[in-house]
Amino acid sequence: MAQPILTTAVASLAVLLLATQIPWNASTLNALRAAHADRPLQSPVAVFVGGTAGIGAALAVKTAKYSVNPDIHIVGRKKASAEKVLAELRTVNTNGTYSFHECDISLLSNARTLATTLAHQLPKINLLVLTAGNLSFRGRTETCEGHDVKMVLHYYSRMLFVDAL
Ligand SMILES: NC(=O)c1ccc[n+]([C@@H]2O[C@H](COP(=O)([O-])OP(=O)(O)OC[C@H]3O[C@@H](n4cnc5c(N)ncnc54)[C@H](OP(=O)(O)O)[C@@H]3O)[C@@H](O)[C@H]2O)c1
Repeated sequence: MAQPILTTAVASLAVLLLATQIPWNASTLNALRAAHADRPLQSPVAVFVGGTAGIGAALAVKTAKYSVNPDIHIVGRKKASAEKVLAELRTVNTNGTYSFHECDISLLSNARTLATTLAHQLPKINLLVLTAGNLSFRGRTETCEGHDVKMVLHYYSRMLFVDAL
């Protein structure tokens, strides 16, 4: 568990250093977009835990849009939300493969089962995006496994997916 934390800390520091060095503005963004426009991702396999809404769903759609033959997996609890995202993915890129994995990852046993399934099922994973979470000002809310929901969604399950995948 120490290695992912160290990796995350180093990566965060690198991003911070880069962000302070580069004068970010609209032309920088446009230059970046132009530089990547003719270099789509080739057959990426991408997993979005929290891909049925919000940031995860938006990133999944952009990944599909800028890829050739993407294989995209979205994870969440709500089938209806997932169907909408899957429909959008199919619209932005007709040549992709798109799957929904219904899973309540507030239980670590569920998250572990899903991670194990994905690890066996997928030949590789190029992108792992972990955005499942909820904004709550409530105090500790225990799952039947005895963990606080916020801690599971925002930390324990994320480390579990990083470790397993
Ligand atoms: N948006 C912001 O401005 C902002 C700012 C600061 C921090 N954040 C944090 O960034 C993360 C993503 O934000 P967002 O705006 O994308 O949130 P969002 O629109 O509410 O989406 C949350 C995603 O997490 C999934 N999710 C929530 N609980 C889950 C569970 N128990 N099991 C499986 N999936 C679950 C949801 O899927 P289902 O509903 O289908 O389960 C959904 O796909 C959150 O942790 C949020 O607290 C967001």
